[in-house]
Amino acid sequence: MAELVLSHLKKSYDGKQVLHGVDVTLPDGHFVVIVGPSGCGKSTLLRMIAGLEDVTEGTISIGGIVMNDIDPADRGCAMVFQNYALYPHMTVRQNIAYPLRIAKVAQAERDRRVEEAAAILNLTEYLDRRPAQLSGGQRQRVAMGRAIVREPEVFLFDEPLSNLDALLRVQMRIEIKRLHKRLKATSIFVTHDQVEAMTLADTLIVMNGGRVEQIGSPAEVYRKPASVFVAGFMGAPAMNLIDASVDVDGLVALDIAPHLPVAEAQGVAKGTPLVLGMRPEAITLSFDSSRGLPATVDLVEELGGSRVAYCTVNGRELAVVLPPSDERYEGREVYLQFDRRAWHLFDRTTGTRLDNLVQPRASTRRLAEA
Ligand SMILES: Nc1ncnc2c1ncn2[C@@H]1O[C@H](COP(=O)(O)OP(=O)(O)O)[C@@H](O)[C@H]1O
Ligand SMILES: [Mg+2]
Repeated sequence: MAELVLSHLKKSYDGKQVLHGVDVTLPDGHFVVIVGPSGCGKSTLLRMIAGLEDVTEGTISIGGIVMNDIDPADRGCAMVFQNYALYPHMTVRQNIAYPLRIAKVAQAERDRRVEEAAAILNLTEYLDRRPAQLSGGQRQRVAMGRAIVREPEVFLFDEPLSNLDALLRVQMRIEIKRLHKRLKATSIFVTHDQVEAMTLADTLIVMNGGRVEQIGSPAEVYRKPASVFVAGFMGAPAMNLIDASVDVDGLVALDIAPHLPVAEAQGVAKGTPLVLGMRPEAITLSFDSSRGLPATVDLVEELGGSRVAYCTVNGRELAVVLPPSDERYEGREVYLQFDRRAWHLFDRTTGTRLDNLVQPRASTRRLAEA
């Protein structure tokens, strides 16, 4: 059993702190994805778990044993890197067997494990080739094979699909998911790609600037982002995030449309700087001038199954998802209506989510006009 616990984990390089205290408990057998922008500390965190970087402060435990001072080879972790790190002069068989040779595993056992891993990864017919004779996807599978033969308790993946083209990336993503269903080992997968993160994770950890912003299921993180950062990072097209304020009556309005309050905020002081978030799919666009906020469509992006209209309202851009149609929107005056149940409210100063929004009361005259 390999529950993984990170406790107050900190890391500094030459006095410069890059991880500011990470606290995470990962249940045995979970597939966890750490997602965040480049430079937020994902690789550092993974390398610390693997034992490739020292811990500045805090503890890492796997299966109840503190690993801080344990040799990387004895931690029960196997890591797969973005650049595959294969030996070019060795065959696929030799590459996959390499960690077992280093660990002095007997030849018969070595052969058994290599054959088994190759079968799982559809590499059997390539065992005698060298890496140069393989496609990118096959090379990445060899790198995974090298991790599998170690029969680790924890798999660590550091952006393993980033070097592959888009189609292959989707295929490998599905393969990794299948592999996890079969092997059931605790897995930590690091990526900067939020689509990859959403699709792979049982549990998602969103990081920013060396801190954990949110931990939750992909659906929770999408539906209830804990901060402005998470709201803007997860989801494509990105959530519209617009400055807003609360007036004397406790009504919240966008700064770009102060005369159209969108909701009531209970327990938020007047004048508190806010950000209102609205997913592009929660806005509808019409030509009916009797309702909604006037806007101009600047650009429409065709996505096949849907389209995204980029509209301007008082100098601010708002993305709106449109159903597929042949209607031409570019350059036209339109009216935007908001699904008021789908607003996300954030404190602009701290960036944290506020759950103080309430459904507008029918009796509120100004709201009824909106
Ligand atoms: N060996 C190192 N020495 C000094 N700074 C480092 C070293 N490795 C990483 N960093 C810094 O730590 C931060 C986090 O890096 P990294 O973990 O690689 O981010 P990510 O994998 O999320 O892109 C970055 O600011 C990076 O410059
Ligand atoms: Mg990295």
